[in-house]
Amino acid sequence: MTSSTSSNNKLQGKVAIVTGGASGLGEATAREFAAHGARVIVIADVQDEKGQNVAVSIGSNVCTYVHCDVSDEEQVKNLVDSTVKSYGRLDIMFSNAGIGRATHACDQSVLDVDLAAYDKLMAVNARGMAVCVKHAAKAMVEGRVRGSIVCMASIVASAGYHKFVDYVMSKHAVLGLVRCASMNLGAYGIRVNCVSPGQVGTPLLKDMLGYENEEEDKVVESTYILKGGLMRPKNVADAVVFLASEDSQFVTGHDLVVDGG
Ligand SMILES: NC(=O)c1ccc[n+]([C@@H]2O[C@H](COP(=O)([O-])OP(=O)(O)OC[C@H]3O[C@@H](n4cnc5c(N)ncnc54)[C@H](O)[C@@H]3O)[C@@H](O)[C@H]2O)c1
Repeated sequence: MTSSTSSNNKLQGKVAIVTGGASGLGEATAREFAAHGARVIVIADVQDEKGQNVAVSIGSNVCTYVHCDVSDEEQVKNLVDSTVKSYGRLDIMFSNAGIGRATHACDQSVLDVDLAAYDKLMAVNARGMAVCVKHAAKAMVEGRVRGSIVCMASIVASAGYHKFVDYVMSKHAVLGLVRCASMNLGAYGIRVNCVSPGQVGTPLLKDMLGYENEEEDKVVESTYILKGGLMRPKNVADAVVFLASEDSQFVTGHDLVVDGG
């Protein structure tokens, strides 16, 4: 690794993949990666129009969009292989794609959990996360890149919730994955961490909690101990930049909670 870079240039020359980068926290992180000098950002998502628009708005000289459903291993393998083929290496994988629920028909309390919906959600949030870590790690090991893998967990990765049992279980799985992968990959100098946000008003959260207006933002704000405003996607993106960059060069297997306390 090279020595520390200046404060707004933490990812100078890096090649990064951001899954779920068409919206919300992934989009904000792709923008921060560009602001910190990343050479290439590949946004991988299933919302093609949104993803393409985000890539164009960041700048087609640094950002591209690839359709990739993370629940399909072949698509993830192609995403990683095509990135390495086009840009020579993979330095950063931000495995962020996720869904809040796969059914609107029930709240996924354990008494009435819909197991077909459970399977669909797990395929994206848990299985998809493992597939992204696996293929990113293989590319880094083969390319002898001392890269950084950052997974998206949640405050519910280490706490219960009265509904959405499948979502909560999927985020607990992310923690297990990060802890195992960081042990497996330490020998190669590859770091694996996760970020665990509290509530941020993205489309996913609004769908889960069923809210749309500013009034309900205040309910979200009241969940933070730290007062002084609403948490924004950029606050999470800043934490991901830290974990992706050499500022965290001796941090691995860590769950960085960003929830206002
Ligand atoms: N918003 C919050 O309060 C919050 C809190 C903690 C964790 N998270 C996590 O953050 C991540 C991003 O969520 P967000 O809040 O930005 O929501 P979002 O809905 O704005 O973004 C999620 C993105 O993932 C994409 N995606 C969904 N399924 C996919 C698949 N199979 N393959 C590829 N892409 C797929 C979506 O198209 C979307 O662009 C999720 O993993 C979510 O669980 C969110």
